[in-house]
Amino acid sequence: MKFTSAAVAALGLVSSVSAAAFKKRAATDPIVVKGSKFFHKNSGEQFFMNGVAYQTDLSLVDASDLPAGQQFVDPLTDIEACKRDVPLLEALHTNLIRVYAIDTTKSQDACMKLLQDAGIYVIADLSEPGLSINRDAPAWDHHLYERYTAVIDKLQKYDNVMGFFAGNEVTNNKSNTDASPFVKASVRDMKAYIKEKKYREIPVGYATNDDEFVRDQLADYFNCGPAEESVDFWGYNIYSWCGESSLKLSGWDKRTEEYSDYNVPVFFAEYGCNKPYPRKFTEVQALYGDEMTPVFSGGIVYMYFQEANNYGLVKVDKSGKASKLSDYTSLEGQLESVKPKGVKMSSYTPANTEARACPAETENWKASAELPPKPDQPTCECLRSQLSCVPAANLAEKKYADIFGYICGQLGEGGCDGIATDGANGVYGSYSMCDAEIRLGWALTKYYESQNSAASACDFDRQAKVVTPTSLNSTCEKMVDAAGGTAGKALGSTGTKTGGDSKSSDKPNAGSCLTPPAGLSTLVVLVASFLGMGMIML
Ligand SMILES: *[C@@H]1O[C@H](CO)[C@@H](O)[C@H](O)[C@H]1NC(C)=O
Ligand SMILES: *[C@@H]1O[C@H](CO)[C@@H](O)[C@H](O)[C@H]1NC(C)=O
Repeated sequence: MKFTSAAVAALGLVSSVSAAAFKKRAATDPIVVKGSKFFHKNSGEQFFMNGVAYQTDLSLVDASDLPAGQQFVDPLTDIEACKRDVPLLEALHTNLIRVYAIDTTKSQDACMKLLQDAGIYVIADLSEPGLSINRDAPAWDHHLYERYTAVIDKLQKYDNVMGFFAGNEVTNNKSNTDASPFVKASVRDMKAYIKEKKYREIPVGYATNDDEFVRDQLADYFNCGPAEESVDFWGYNIYSWCGESSLKLSGWDKRTEEYSDYNVPVFFAEYGCNKPYPRKFTEVQALYGDEMTPVFSGGIVYMYFQEANNYGLVKVDKSGKASKLSDYTSLEGQLESVKPKGVKMSSYTPANTEARACPAETENWKASAELPPKPDQPTCECLRSQLSCVPAANLAEKKYADIFGYICGQLGEGGCDGIATDGANGVYGSYSMCDAEIRLGWALTKYYESQNSAASACDFDRQAKVVTPTSLNSTCEKMVDAAGGTAGKALGSTGTKTGGDSKSSDKPNAGSCLTPPAGLSTLVVLVASFLGMGMIML
C-alpha cells in the first residue's frame, strides 16, 4: 500500500478540538476490570469507551503487496495511514480503536505510540481471516493457539492495549451453537497464557452478534462456570438503533435490563445502523446517557473507513487522501454533548458477583459446558511419529473430508472418538486438538491397521502412503499414554471412554460413509470439520 504526500497533507483537514466530553490525555494508564466496569488503573476513574472500528479496506490494497495467502492488512503497521488517521480519530474524541487482524511479522510500535499520545486505547481481535474458529467446522487446534498467543506476545507490552477478543460472532444463529465450546476454550487458554507468561492482566473477551434466538444463551454461556474459563468482558455487536429510534424502539431498554446483573463489563463492540443513511447517530445520547451507563461501558462505532458497505466515517481515495464524510460530522456533533457519569474505582463495590448459570440445551441451543482440551503440539508430534499411514504430500486439505468420511464410516460408531470434535455433546478426542494432517493420519493409520496393514488399505488412489513409525522416546511415551495410547480417547461429559470401544452395534454399512444411524452427529461434525478447513470466518 502506498500513500503519497497527499496523505500527510490530509492532516490539514483536522479541525481544532472542541471542548471534549471524553477527557483527552495520553493513554498510558492501563485499563483494568473491576466487577462490571472498566477503570483506569492508576487514576481510578471509570473508563467508558468511545471507540471506532479501524480495519484497512482491502480493496485499496495492491494484493501483490501481501504475502501469499494473507487476506488482511494490519492497520497498526501502516505508519503513514496512522499519521493521517490518528488526528482525525482524536478530533472525534475517540479513546479506543478496535483492530480486527494483527500482523505478527511486523512492528506496531510507531502506530501504537501515535495512538497512545493521542489518548487512544486498542482492543484487538486475536484471529485473522485465515486463522479463526470456523463456525461450520469448529476446532481449537495448535495453529489457532499459536496464532492467538503470538498476537498476545506482540501487543502485551503496550500500556494502551485494553483487551483482546478471542472471537467475533462465531456462533451467529441456532445452527452453529456447537462452535461456542471451542471459542470458550480459546478464552480459557488465552487467559491462562497471559497468567503463565506473567504479562499485565489484559482482559480477554468475546464479540457476539445480535441473533434473537441465541443472544441470551450466548451471554450466559460465556459467563457461566469457573471464572478461569469465562470472559473478562462481553462485547455486543448491535445494529438495532436505526435512524430516529428510541431506547424502546431499538430494544436497548431491554438489553440494558438483561445485562444489569452481568458480572463483567459489557459494551457495544460494533454499533451504528446505516439505514437510513446518512446516519444521525442519535443513539449516542442513549448509549452515554443515564439509563445505559450504569450497565454499558460505551461502544465502538462501525467503522472508520468507507467501504462498499457504506459504514465509513472517512473516505480514503486511491492516492491515500482522507476526507471526512457526513457521518463523521454527525457523530462528532453527538459526541460533543455527551458526558457519561462514572464512578470511582475506590468507591465502587460490585453488586453483581454471581456468574450466570450455563444455558440448558434447547431446540435453539446446543453447546456443552464441557470444553475441548488445550492444544498440545508436543503430544501431536509424538502421535505423528507413531503413524503408519499418512496423507500423501499432494493431497489437498480440502479433499481430506472424503477420505475422512469414508474411514470413520468404516470404523463405525466410536471408531473416530480419538479425534472427535463434538461441541454439542461435549465429546472431544484427546487428539482433536492436533492439526488436520495429523488427525487424518490418525484415521488412515487406524483404518490401515484394521485391514491388517494390507497395502491396498493405505492407498486411496495414491492419496495416502505407508510410512514407518519411529520408536517412542520416554517423553513421548508418557504423553501418548496420557492421551489414551495412540488410539486416543474421548474426553468430555460422557466420561472417559477409549477410542475403539464401540458401545453400539449400529455399525454403518460397509462401503458407505453416509449411512451410520447412530453416532451420526459426531460423524457429521467430524466430516464437516474437514470440509470446512481453511474457510474464512470473520
Ligand atoms: C446461520 O448462519 C450461517 C452462517 O452465516 C448461514 O449460512 C445459515 O444460513 C444460518 N442459518 C440459519 C438457520 O439462520
Ligand atoms: C521425542 O520424539 C518426538 C516425536 O518424534 C520428538 O518431537 C521429540 O523431540 C523427542 N524428544 C526427545 C527428548 O528426544
